[in-house]
Amino acid sequence: MRVAVIPGDGIGPEVVNSVIQVVPVLDDLFGLDIEFTTFNWGADRWLADGVGLPEGAITMLQKDFDAIFFGALGDPRIPTTAHGREILLGLRRGLSLYVNYRPLLLPGHTIDLYRENTQGLYVGIGGRVENAGVATVAIDECVYTRDIVTKFVRYGLADATARGRTKVTLVHKANAVPNTGALWQDVFRTELAQFPQIEANEEYVDAFCYKLVRDPGTFEVVLAPNLFGDIASDVGAALMGGLGTAPSASICPESRFGLFEPVHGSAPDIAGLGIANPVGAARSLVLLLDHMGRTDAATALETCLRESMETTLTTPDLGGSGTTRAFMDSVLARLERLGSALGTTIGK
Ligand code: NAD
Ligand code: IPM
Ligand code: MN
Repeated sequence: MRVAVIPGDGIGPEVVNSVIQVVPVLDDLFGLDIEFTTFNWGADRWLADGVGLPEGAITMLQKDFDAIFFGALGDPRIPTTAHGREILLGLRRGLSLYVNYRPLLLPGHTIDLYRENTQGLYVGIGGRVENAGVATVAIDECVYTRDIVTKFVRYGLADATARGRTKVTLVHKANAVPNTGALWQDVFRTELAQFPQIEANEEYVDAFCYKLVRDPGTFEVVLAPNLFGDIASDVGAALMGGLGTAPSASICPESRFGLFEPVHGSAPDIAGLGIANPVGAARSLVLLLDHMGRTDAATALETCLRESMETTLTTPDLGGSGTTRAFMDSVLARLERLGSALGTTIGK
């Protein structure tokens, strides 16, 4: 398995580098045969030589790698986050990673949130009219093609069914944004014909966010257009206990290529302090291992993460007094104990 690592900016490298330490132990235990190659794409390179996503990057990634393990992008020296759009949105679009799976791991209940990841308000079509350097009109177009919405909804319904889920909610805003809204509703209703066992619901995104906070237990699977899914995933992360704990997987169902990254950003307010919560990044590695069919290693890592989250070694965002490194050291120690308890190397 060949994995490109893009640590990025701020706390991105802190969480990515601390999480990667568990890989040799997982390899010893489960024989992963995983090879990492790091790329320095991010703010420093952008500021030094103006390069965001280097030319040929997409072709190279498709040819030489199976997946990307990604940290975060965002740097106070680049207030527009132009480099973040070029690199991260460039990877999502360039690699057709149109399914963004962001599970909301609530106490005792998981909501499978699927976010469309390449279109909608993120297509980058628009412009500004300026008068003496002052913007007077600004346009960002929201564009959806039936093809992508259909493939996305179909994948979400099939994946939810494979996970044993039966209740699916479409999130939209068709009352105020009628054109793309109606397209989503029409595709959702059409595709449901192939899934007669599914109990389907539709919710306006504002009411959905309200109900998600008030009564998360009513949702099982959620399908959302790009921006609504982005917002809902941070609301969901708050319900999970913190933004630092939420993982994500951006997948191209056709090629099976995946980009795995925590939901959070570069957190400039705590960058460099060594206290970033690595759980969201570690759980993104869990999703990567799972996607590669290594459920054994994925389950072991998730179990050890959960056990360590019950100690005082958690980072301050979860109320503990630990550092990024101390927390991951405790996860590492648990994995090593698991190894000696098993007393043998499995899978090699
Ligand atoms: P953020 O997610 O970086 O931080 C929001 C809040 O959550 C901050 O208070 C931060 O300290 C806290 N937080 C986030 N991750 C944490 C962690 N692992 N451990 C502990 N606390 C954590 O969002 P923001 O501040 O709005 O954005 C900062 C920069 O990151 C911006 O440039 C933004 O564009 C970018 N961003 C990038 C991504 C990405 O690369 N996928 C995602 C979101 C934001
Ligand atoms: C996320 C982030 C990105 C998004 C930004 C940084 C472009 O918020 O991954 O959730 O909006 O998709
Ligand atoms: Mn976001």
